[in-house]
Amino acid sequence: MTKANGKLAPWIAIGSSILLVVFSSRGLAKDDGLARTPPMGWNSWNAFKMDIDESKIKAIADAMVSSGMREAGYVYLVLDDGWMAKARDGDGNLTGDPLKFPGGMKALGDYIHGKGLKYGLYECRGYLTCQKLPGSLGHEERDMSTFASWGVDYIKLDSCFAERNGRLSSVELAVYRSAIERTGRPMVLSLSDFGNGSWAWGAGAFVHLWRTSYDISRNIGSVYACAETSGGDGVIHPAFNGLWQFAGPGRWNDADMLQVGNLPGPKEDKVHFSLWSILASPLMAGNDLRSMPESVRAILTAPEVIAVNQDPRGFQGYRVYRNGGREIYNRPLSDGTTAVLLLNKNEAPADLTVTWDEIGLRGAQKVRDLWERKDLGEFKNSFTAANLSRHEHLFLKVGTPGGKPLPGPAPVPLEKYSVSRSGTTYLGDLYYVMKQGDAPRTDTNSAGGALSIKGTKYPKGLGCRTSSRIMYKLGGKADRFRAVAGLDDSYAGPETARFRVLNEDFFGNQVLFDSGKLTRDQAAVKIDIDVKGVEYLLLMIDGKGVAGDWADAKVIAGGRRDP
Ligand code: GAL
Repeated sequence: MTKANGKLAPWIAIGSSILLVVFSSRGLAKDDGLARTPPMGWNSWNAFKMDIDESKIKAIADAMVSSGMREAGYVYLVLDDGWMAKARDGDGNLTGDPLKFPGGMKALGDYIHGKGLKYGLYECRGYLTCQKLPGSLGHEERDMSTFASWGVDYIKLDSCFAERNGRLSSVELAVYRSAIERTGRPMVLSLSDFGNGSWAWGAGAFVHLWRTSYDISRNIGSVYACAETSGGDGVIHPAFNGLWQFAGPGRWNDADMLQVGNLPGPKEDKVHFSLWSILASPLMAGNDLRSMPESVRAILTAPEVIAVNQDPRGFQGYRVYRNGGREIYNRPLSDGTTAVLLLNKNEAPADLTVTWDEIGLRGAQKVRDLWERKDLGEFKNSFTAANLSRHEHLFLKVGTPGGKPLPGPAPVPLEKYSVSRSGTTYLGDLYYVMKQGDAPRTDTNSAGGALSIKGTKYPKGLGCRTSSRIMYKLGGKADRFRAVAGLDDSYAGPETARFRVLNEDFFGNQVLFDSGKLTRDQAAVKIDIDVKGVEYLLLMIDGKGVAGDWADAKVIAGGRRDP
């Protein structure tokens, strides 16, 4: 048993009597049946930020019913940051803001339930929420039971200030999971950690969905950037081709809440919705439903696009083609067909062709347009979307329902991204499982030249530009981490760089090494630290546009001498 599984043991002991715990080929995963398909609902943040109150939320609940959103599958009505009073009550309990929610949070939940909807609330695992209202740190048990007593069905758990908690994220999330289980009330747990690697370090054992990106905003560039975290190499080594291998029924990559209805027009709204659909991202609407135009309603309730998102097989889509801003994604479905998205992000109009070969089919195949809900006919060997303008796309279903489900691609094998042998493993020879900032370059500095610190050249190592974070999976197999850290000689500016090595993710804040701020005049810093039992190693460099090197970065396993 690996140490990760060892860490989960207390949770399993508590949870196994209540929950069905399944072991899958991707590690330990919980399947309590609560989020077999990506959750769908509405969240207050993108529409209203902190400006929420009882009458607004009730009007939203009414609109979810009258607009047909509920019937289309949007059942969770989630209040984001801003619902709670500025301080806990005299007994230490959370209460709703008395001015905004005079009827109290239980009554609001009753209203929401009365509409045939489910009730969601936001909290944060830090001592404060992101907007500085009371956080749950130290009150986990109490808050989860308060939520249960109010009839909450869905908790969005944020991470602001959690780096001060002094607990590894995997330990912290297990606390929430078991506190929820002890309430006896089924509640979906949605983790917001802005893409700090939860897919990799195994948050799926505790939560049903986790964020893969920073906050989405009201523009198509932000929508594409969020999609790229889940469907491209925005936050992981390109060899993974997105995060699809980490998702499945009960555990979802969350590319953040929808901005459909808040973007410039239907072209942008539709491509956003199609991307979230093919990437099996949760569909949490974020527009003001009280004044939703029919054109936006039609997009958010498009039945065949939603059906792809909610496909029971739960296989997340992945990219099969990319050439600049021209992209094709594929998602094999449970009924033997496959969903295909052809997208042109570029200024210049483009034709895009998907070949059946790329999506596991051959011969003549039926093609259906999922937006138009129209059969386009049978096509031999390929299909071409002609003359797609900027941000235009086609979302198709290819094949005949009723056949055997088509295979997806093979996942990246564990030995490619985890320390698997004794002796020396250069980190550049492993695929990183999370990155933020510029991707590290293997065996060169960030500009592609030789790694060089204070005149010494290094044939191996990682060249970065600050700020950057990279996570590697050691799997508890390594004994020591060694590297030479310093500013690359190619950097001539005045800025500093701070090199830190952490156990697991950023919010755990378990610092194994800290260089302090280094200038280019300072000598290289030799790192040689104990990493026994460490599952995930996070390499962080902070600074402003500085070329920083983890020269000769390697781990030593099995007690052998470094060659
Ligand atoms: C952010 C989070 C947003 C929203 C906001 C509330 O950290 O990513 O989705 O919840 O906090 O303060």
